[in-house]
Amino acid sequence: MVSQLRVTGGTPLNGEITVRGAKNFVSKAMVAALLSQEKSVLRNVPDIRDVAVVTELLRLHGADVDYDVPSGTLEITPGDIHLPDDPADMDAVAGSSRIPILFAGPLLHTLGEAFIPDLGGCHIGNRPVDFHMQVLESFGAKRIQEPSGMHLVAPQGLTAKPVRLPYPSVGATEQTLFTAVMANGITVLENAAVEPEIMDLIAVLQKMGAMISVDTDRTIRIEGVDELHGYAHTALPDRIEAGSWASAALATHGDIFVRGAQQEPMMSYLNIYRKVGGQFDVTDEGIRFWHPGGQLRSLALETDVHPGFMTDWQQPLVVALTQATGMSIVHETVYEDRFGFTEALRDMGAHIQIYKECLGGHECRFGQRNFYHSAVIQGPTKLHAADVFVPDLRGGFSHLIAALAAEGTSVVSGVSIIDRGYENFVGKLRALNADVEALD
Ligand code: EPU
Repeated sequence: MVSQLRVTGGTPLNGEITVRGAKNFVSKAMVAALLSQEKSVLRNVPDIRDVAVVTELLRLHGADVDYDVPSGTLEITPGDIHLPDDPADMDAVAGSSRIPILFAGPLLHTLGEAFIPDLGGCHIGNRPVDFHMQVLESFGAKRIQEPSGMHLVAPQGLTAKPVRLPYPSVGATEQTLFTAVMANGITVLENAAVEPEIMDLIAVLQKMGAMISVDTDRTIRIEGVDELHGYAHTALPDRIEAGSWASAALATHGDIFVRGAQQEPMMSYLNIYRKVGGQFDVTDEGIRFWHPGGQLRSLALETDVHPGFMTDWQQPLVVALTQATGMSIVHETVYEDRFGFTEALRDMGAHIQIYKECLGGHECRFGQRNFYHSAVIQGPTKLHAADVFVPDLRGGFSHLIAALAAEGTSVVSGVSIIDRGYENFVGKLRALNADVEALD
């Protein structure tokens, strides 16, 4: 695994790359396979570290997992599921992932107990799991805190209860789906997240035999069933990765065809792309993104839950906004602390200030608290090389883009975290003519 890259910028990224299945769907669909004894087959699976982590977690629970990287076909046969012999093994595997919390529902249904190690993931805010715990406990799970994590038990099984999420959390919606599909009774889940990745997960669960309907007002109804079956499914493409490469094209004056990208789940991104002055062409095979020459335009935008502008698109786009003429405002309303990556951009010459106030839109839930969650970007600025350290997954990809847009040679350290969500990113950068060299 590469951890340091020497990046020489100033050359546009040009060419074609392919995106495969969405990280934020594939990992959940893998967990869903535990709801049945039968074999499940997931296609279009990317070779990323989150997939490797969930594979190891499934194996520790006794499942058989077989992944053919070139074809992207992953087969899971749960077989004789059990808790890992040593909880420390789970901790060692899961360290960097937040997926283990989603094992709770399937394991409670199958075994009546689950062990959840302390959670990792990107440092972009507190990232509590209180909504998850409220759902699990209201359905009848009991929690026993242990030194390396929590042990959950549900000896009487799980019983449906009404759920109203305080915020349309992606993870808590998935938690509720997994807990409710085989619970006793009907669950009405209000204020649910309705991201395309969640709709694809619901499609998987329906294939498995679940009874789930989605209303127009963020309400999801889940009728518990006694038994679920294996599934065969092709994962929807990774719209975050597609948007990241699109922003890279804009920031470097490039032209990238993203094979596999789809228009519908990216509509809000495409609107912003056009507003900034980027151009795109949608085909059946993918989307071509390019900088048409001339000046980019500044804008004000807010991140939001679907169908709004995704928080995960924000960081790569901010790099492109350093090249737009005028003042742009980005108000982050999903995570309270997602502008840490801008410090490195300032080291590269970008003019970015971050503020605690809700700028450029409505008051969000972070407005009255002490979080730097709005950014003002003044452009265009000529970026220059710097040695930077990657703070988190999306911030890290942004650092790479910034280094590629900058004049000179930068050293970007800590890039191994990017493997969590970007398949073969070094190979793809080279395919786009980027001048990158692994230093270790
Ligand atoms: N939240 C709570 N309590 C909870 C759960 C969430 O307060 O129990 C808050 C979070 O702190 C956050 C907000 O609700 O402020 C939204 O969090 P959400 O639960 O929606 O996020 P998540 O499920 O932890 C997934 C993706 C993230 C993506 C978000 C939003 C995965 C593995 N992660 O996280 O992806 O940003 O949804 O779309 O699916 C990434 O890919 O880089 C990434 C961080």
